Amino acid sequence: MLTKLLKISCTSRQCTFAKPYELIPGPRGPFGLGNLYNYLPGIGSYSWQRLHQAGQDKYDKYGAIVREIIVPGQDIVWLYDPKDIASLLNERDCPQRRSHLALAQYRKKRPEVYKTTGLLPTNGPDWWRLRAQLQKELSAPKSVRNFVAQVDGVTKEFMRFLQDSRAGDSIDMLPQLTRLNLELTCLLTFGARLQSFSPKEQDSDSRSTRLMHAAETTNSCILPTDQGLQLWRFMETPNYRKLSQAQSYMEEVALELFEENLKNGSKGTSLISAYLKNPELDRSDVVGTAADLLLAGIDTTSYASAFLLYHVARNPEVQQRLFEEAKRVLPNPKEELCADALRTDITYTRAVLKESLRLNPIAVGVGRILNQDAVFSGYFVPKGTTVVTQNMVACRLAQHFEDPLHFHPDRWLQHRSALNPYLVLPFGHGMRACIARRLAEQNMHILLLRLLRDYELIWCGSGDEMDVKTLLINKPDSPVLIDLRKRSE
Ligand code: HEM
Repeated sequence: MLTKLLKISCTSRQCTFAKPYELIPGPRGPFGLGNLYNYLPGIGSYSWQRLHQAGQDKYDKYGAIVREIIVPGQDIVWLYDPKDIASLLNERDCPQRRSHLALAQYRKKRPEVYKTTGLLPTNGPDWWRLRAQLQKELSAPKSVRNFVAQVDGVTKEFMRFLQDSRAGDSIDMLPQLTRLNLELTCLLTFGARLQSFSPKEQDSDSRSTRLMHAAETTNSCILPTDQGLQLWRFMETPNYRKLSQAQSYMEEVALELFEENLKNGSKGTSLISAYLKNPELDRSDVVGTAADLLLAGIDTTSYASAFLLYHVARNPEVQQRLFEEAKRVLPNPKEELCADALRTDITYTRAVLKESLRLNPIAVGVGRILNQDAVFSGYFVPKGTTVVTQNMVACRLAQHFEDPLHFHPDRWLQHRSALNPYLVLPFGHGMRACIARRLAEQNMHILLLRLLRDYELIWCGSGDEMDVKTLLINKPDSPVLIDLRKRSE
């Protein structure tokens, strides 16, 4: 009997007795045919757009490890325990993700543009060949600091744009933040200015507006094409068509900006200028990377910044302390921000961003395909299984954080060492973590310092907690309405 229930599992870490995979609790659907029906609009109680709620429900029903059969042969194991999360994400040896599958198909059909399917969907040695070459310019602290002056310049322009776009008492910040991050992504990637704050670029058929829509459309088609029956592999489904059209536009602009960069002699500090000098990368590698950065850089930072401003606007005491810090770092707001100050003098600003990402990460968690057999919470899980962490749910549990639903940046200043480092992982973790983490954090720190230096933020949105809807990444589910009051000093 005992040998039936226990299985010996040997992983690279340890040999343990483990309960069999089949015994992991979780929804299997009627007759074991899968839980996909439960996500169907009007029929099921789950929604792809409310993955955090589905995640909470599964935790309440089944506990800290859940095996969900989506359709037979397609399981997801969900992990909520930080010990399991650490064990999953500390994997070396080319960690694999199962995402952006339809995007990979689109790129495979266009070998004249792409040599690989790009960083986001590619796995194995092809992924590492690219990642190893790309990360120095995008991830190394010194390279990231080189972008401070450019980002600060655009953020100052953004302040003027905000001032001009105030029609009434409040502004919906999300579309404005998307323009900021579009402008920054194009500047840092291609060294090009789109001038997306200009009145002309705000038209619905302008390049900036179309790019913003194309990025969001692509992101919103990823989850529905990754999950379920994947009919797009055999015919052009509506989601696949939407994704292809949006990608075709983003690719057109990426190629246009790439050619402009080449024409200008690839001067300046842009990412593609640096990549073009790397003999290990060829033209298609660089074009494919540019397309990836355009897709990954805009909505991620915009949604994360929107949640950040939401929390700040609702917490006047936090705002006051941010203002004090902003005054120290920018005594004269007309002057340039000093890159060194960002390294050493913005402890509170960092804590505010960290706390916002705890409550509102843009991803519910981090996914991996297991490279080898593993044991989580005492259960055996075989190599090849898709395993996804549930950090957003775990970060809101009282067993991990005191007063977990409240915004307390001080927890990152006072009791930091008591907090488990595998809970707040908004950028993922390990070799496959977000390649642009430092850059994204730096951009958001600059935004917060500049905005709080000049303005008081008054929350004008709904009186209820703002919730999220998942379009692959978590987006605020209602307008982020903020009144910006210019400070008198
Ligand atoms: C607040 C902003 C951002 C957040 C929260 C974020 C979060 C993430 C997460 C969770 C992952 C998956 C990590 C993993 O699997 O361990 C990821 C991957 C990635 N991110 Fe970001 N990201 C942000 C901004 C950006 C920006 C600005 C860019 C580019 C300009 C970018 C480019 C990428 C790329 C290319 C990958 C795939 C890396 C790989 O598979 O090797 N991200 N990001």
